[in-house]
Formats: sequence, structure tokens, C-alpha cells
Amino acid sequence: MNIGIIGLGFVGLSLSSVLASKGHAVIGIDTDKKKCLEIRNGKSPIYEPDLEKTLKNALKKSLKISDNFSLIKNCDMIFVTVGTPQKINGEIELSMIKKAVKSIGKIIKITKKNPIIFIKSTVIPGTTKKIILPILEKESGKTADKEFGIISNPEFLQESNAIRDTKCPHVIILGGTNTKYMKRAKAFFSKMHHNVPIIITKYQTAEMIKYANNSFLATKISFINQLSNICQNIPDADVDDVASAIGLDPRIGKLFLSAGPGYGGSCLPKDMSALINFGGSVGADTAFLKAVKKTNDEQINSIISLMKKRLGSLSNKKITILGTAFKPNTDDIRDSKSIELIKKLLKNKVKISVYDPKALENTKRIFGNKIVYSKSLTSALDKSHAAIIMTQWKQFELISNKSLHNMKNKLIIDSRRMLAKKELDGEYYAIGIGEKR
Ligand code: UDX
Repeated sequence: MNIGIIGLGFVGLSLSSVLASKGHAVIGIDTDKKKCLEIRNGKSPIYEPDLEKTLKNALKKSLKISDNFSLIKNCDMIFVTVGTPQKINGEIELSMIKKAVKSIGKIIKITKKNPIIFIKSTVIPGTTKKIILPILEKESGKTADKEFGIISNPEFLQESNAIRDTKCPHVIILGGTNTKYMKRAKAFFSKMHHNVPIIITKYQTAEMIKYANNSFLATKISFINQLSNICQNIPDADVDDVASAIGLDPRIGKLFLSAGPGYGGSCLPKDMSALINFGGSVGADTAFLKAVKKTNDEQINSIISLMKKRLGSLSNKKITILGTAFKPNTDDIRDSKSIELIKKLLKNKVKISVYDPKALENTKRIFGNKIVYSKSLTSALDKSHAAIIMTQWKQFELISNKSLHNMKNKLIIDSRRMLAKKELDGEYYAIGIGEKR
């Protein structure tokens, strides 16, 4: 197959690398020339386990990278994987996807192929049919379902597991109309992923499935975070034991029940806001979704109040933040709760030092010289009044009494309960664990 992939972020770059490794002729397109050059040289612009290895392998095979849209004119399939970031009012920004599909439309006009365009970018229900399809028809002068196909194909990959999830998705959603293009798409995916359920549905339902999925994950996290705040006020209670026990009930399931500082990242917060906004616009009551979001927005205060309880005034205290990435094994800090915490602490005149194994460069871009960046865990803790674990990097499990040696106050606040089972000198407080009695 000749395959074009438009937009080389997490989803597009992982998909390009995996499909080319499997032997397809893939052309990855991105308008950012510098990014294209980096990728062509086998360097991933983002830190993602296994991505660079897969990319290098793909480049040796049949992956081509360019900023030139005309190269996709012989493609049988074109995947749109450009970002749909959040606007200030919570809606999603469609300018990038509109620009991309305009360019694709111009290619459809001149191609002799009958390509299928897959929309992988997350868009609110109705967007593919009401906005994207008309742009493609207008720019190409051709008719959808006749001279080209268009299918909504949402993506569920998780950052830090992007390659694994691209190779082995748990489901494939194909939204559109029942045409020869849908049959071709189904045959393509069933050959590539044996035994993975393929759901064929309408455009709007496919788009809604993506929001339903992410808002349910957000719900589980806010649920356990609220329970965690209750547990924290019960002597000897432990939210992880509660989560493990209820997770054994197959109706509940054990995943996404880890209490913490709230969900962050480039998807869950953005998708929650977009769904609340969209629900409201169609006249639906979104009180439940709003409560999930509010619980998440307020969760960071649980950490700040723990700090204030133990340290009194925070002003001029040196506090170490361990982890700025929104989750481990990524350098992504978009909507990271750790970044939000640092912003709040800076307002309280706290002196901040941070350590993160991968995300320091991205963190520097936000805070510049307002905070101190440490190259190691030990130097980050030096003369600190308190340390707060924000991201579950494996490295933080190794924190020992020796690591705390040079702290001014041996006070650890653990938002992920990574050190809960360790006997540490000094004071240790964790979100979701009540005081020992
Ligand atoms: C998410 C969805 O999981 C994925 O299916 C979708 O395609 C994109 O959005 P991602 O943003 O990569 O993926 O991260 P995810 O692993 O879902 O974690 C999101 C946030 O929730 C992180 O901040 C994480 O720390 C937090 N989280 C997750 C918890 O606090 N507790 C949990 O139990 C799980």
C-alpha cells in the first residue's frame, strides 16, 4: 500500500514508523521543515520509548518524510493526524485540520487513485461530515463515497506506550458510510491486526466514541481522587488497597484507579472541556462531566494544603519538585499537574528546584530562570525544605535516607505513594493515606 500520513506528532510519527516497518510505502508529511529534517535523520522530536528505534528501522525500509503535500498523490490511503488543540473557551481549534484537508483536497483533484482519507485527529461529533468532507469535495471537485472515501478512525494510543498501542490497538473504529471504501478499510485493518475488534459505525458515533472513552477514563481518575481525599482523612486508611480491592470486581476493573494529583496531558483535559462544551451546545445536561472536571481542577489543592499544614507559610521556602512530565516515560509537559503546581507555588514566593529525567528542557521553555533545574535527584534535594513527588518515574522509587541527607527538612509529600512502603527518616505524607495510628 502507498500510505500518506499528515501531521507527525505522537500519533502520526508512531503510525508512519510502524506502517513503514511492516513494509508499506509511507510518506509522512509535516509543515514544520525543521521537524522533518530531524525525523529524516532518524531523530524523534519527542521522547517516546521504542519510537526512535522503530523510526530508524522504518527509514531504512520505505519511510519518506517531507513537507511537500504533492508527494501523497499516489497514495491509496491518507491518514490525517494533525493536532486539534484547545481554545481558551474549551472548544477545539480546527484551523490546522482545515488547512491539512484543504491541501489533501487539492491532491485528490489531480490523483488518478481513489484514496481513502482517514480522520484520526480528535474532532467533536459532526466535524468529519459537516466540515471536513465538504472541504475535501470543494477543493477536489470530486464526490465523497464515489471518487474518494472518507472515514473517521479515532486513535486511542497512550503516550509512553505509543508504539505498543499502534502495533496492537484494543479496538479499531471505522465511522462513515457503507461503501466499497469501508470494505477496503476493514480488509486493510483486519489483515494488519488479527483478532482486534473492528467497529463499523456512522461518522458522528465514531467521533463520539473517542470522547466517551477519554471522559470515562477521566471519570475513573476523578472518582479515585475524590475517594483518596476521603481516605487521607481516615487514620490508617490507604486508597491503593481500596482501589486494588474494588478493581477485582470485573464490573469496575483495576486500571485507571491510581489516585494522584489529577489527570494531565494533551488529551484528557482537552477532551473533557470539548465534550462539556459540545454537550452544552446541543442542549444536554453535562453536570456529571463538569463535576469530573471540577474534581480534577481542585485536586492540586490537596497537595498544597498538605504542604501548608506541614510547613506553615510557604514563602521563601525551598521546595523540590520531582517530575514535571505529565506521566513517566515521556518528556511531554502539556497540561501537566506538576507545571500547574509550580505556577501556584511561584505565586506563593516559593523557591523551586526541579528534577525530571526527560522533561527538563521542555520545563525550561516555560519557566526560564524563575526556577532551578537540577541534573540529579540528589542535587535537587540539596537544602530543600520539602520534596514533592509528582510523576511516577521509576527512579524515584530509589529514594532512600541517603538521598535525603542534605535536605534542610526531611519532608516528603508523595502524590503517587511511591515510597509508602519504605521506612524513611523524617516526615512522609502521601495523598490518599491517612495518618498512622
Ligand atoms: C490518554 C488516553 O489514555 C488515550 O487512550 C488517548 O488516546 C489519549 O489520552 P495519555 O494522555 O497518553 O492517554 O495518558 P494516560 O495514560 O491516559 O494518563 C493521563 C493522565 O491521567 C496522566 O496525567 C496520568 O498521570 C493520570 N492518571 C492515569 C492517573 O492519575 N491515574 C491513573 O490511574 C491513570
